[in-house]
Amino acid sequence: MEAIHVHGGVSLQGSVRIHGSKNAALPILAATILTKDESIISNCPRISDVYQMLQLLNALGCKVCWEGNGIRVDAGNVTQSKMPTEAITGMRSSLFLMGALLGRNREVVMEYPGGCVIGKRPIDLHLKALEQMGAVFEEKEGRICGKAPEGLHGAEIYWNISSVGATENIILAAVTAQGKTKIHGAAREPEVEHLCRYLLACGGDIEGVGTDCLCISGGKALRGTHYTVPADRIVAGTYVLACLAAGGCVLLEEAPAQQMTSVLELASSMGAEYQKAANGLYVQAPERLQGVRELITLPYPDFPTDLQSVALTAMTGADGECLIEETIFENRFRVVEPLREMGADIRQLDAARVIVRGPTRLEGREVEAVELRGGAALVVAGLIAEGETVVRGCRYIDRGYENICRDLRELGARIYSV
Ligand code: UD1
Repeated sequence: MEAIHVHGGVSLQGSVRIHGSKNAALPILAATILTKDESIISNCPRISDVYQMLQLLNALGCKVCWEGNGIRVDAGNVTQSKMPTEAITGMRSSLFLMGALLGRNREVVMEYPGGCVIGKRPIDLHLKALEQMGAVFEEKEGRICGKAPEGLHGAEIYWNISSVGATENIILAAVTAQGKTKIHGAAREPEVEHLCRYLLACGGDIEGVGTDCLCISGGKALRGTHYTVPADRIVAGTYVLACLAAGGCVLLEEAPAQQMTSVLELASSMGAEYQKAANGLYVQAPERLQGVRELITLPYPDFPTDLQSVALTAMTGADGECLIEETIFENRFRVVEPLREMGADIRQLDAARVIVRGPTRLEGREVEAVELRGGAALVVAGLIAEGETVVRGCRYIDRGYENICRDLRELGARIYSV
């Protein structure tokens, strides 16, 4: 898919099924190498990050195959500890395999991980915690080489930054380590909880699931299991905000509403009505979007950084001024420039804060996506702009949305890809 074309000005109506969560599926797929049995992971999204993870698992010696929307992984023979360069470039979640491989093979060799260019994205928390658990790292020809000659052991880990990836990486290392690992300051995102529930189903021993203090008793033999990935709360949140921006009334089938409190609170303060039902989440946009004074991104359960750009786009159609503050990543206002070109009134105060003044009428333009969630935000901008918007750089959007055009078309949008 090269470009997405959107003809704006159509309100959204109808229903769409929310696919499985990227951020839940990736660490769970990495976790399948911790058992020698077969695992079946259902409801996996067909997105490029998942395809890359499967390539990595394949290269390490796993047999992987799709069965409907599930993936069967046979990890009986994980002979390799060296990750191939080409599959890793641009995928931050290759990091999960670091803890898992050190646990299973006592060795890992990998490139510095990529990921969206939304900030510095260091990996110091991952490396320091793994060192505490007995791993030693050196850099060879630009690659990270890690070894745990004696095997990993438990450790007491204290973090004052909430990191989803580091929490998941250390959980994966800790379930294979000898003894207890305690993570103080663990991230509480629902995807961390799903990884823990998957490992519990495999026979792991984890206490404090869902809290910021996890206690993992390692060294238990893990068995294969069947686990179903939950629906993607960020994709569902994107469509809630798209409905707000474009107007209309939608049913988001299987949306995990209980994990979407902060985005639903925002929708409600902007005048939307919603109802949680057995088949999903109904959202009705107001006639006129009410403004909110400020929006701050913070770790779960507060407003997710992954929905900040889409919320910013919706805010261009709301009354008044809104201060948006990004506290998680340093470089996450990359949609500001293209939105301004489309006619938005956005003032950047500093790297972490912008003021959006609305309502403004956006005009269709040719714009370029440079990262995943910002790309989705530009598609949403296309829904509300007059005329045609062409979004290029769609490979970023494919990393996290199975088919954003198909989904929005099901909701009545005039959108297609070429
Ligand atoms: C994960 C999500 C991503 C989401 C982000 C924050 C996946 C695959 N990706 O990314 O969609 O936007 O959480 O909710 O689940 N940090 C350090 N040192 C480290 C690691 C992180 O300082 O070693 C900092 C980061 O720079 C950032 C903050 O911690 O400021 C949070 O990052 P983190 O939660 O680790 O993000 P990811 O796991 O990469």
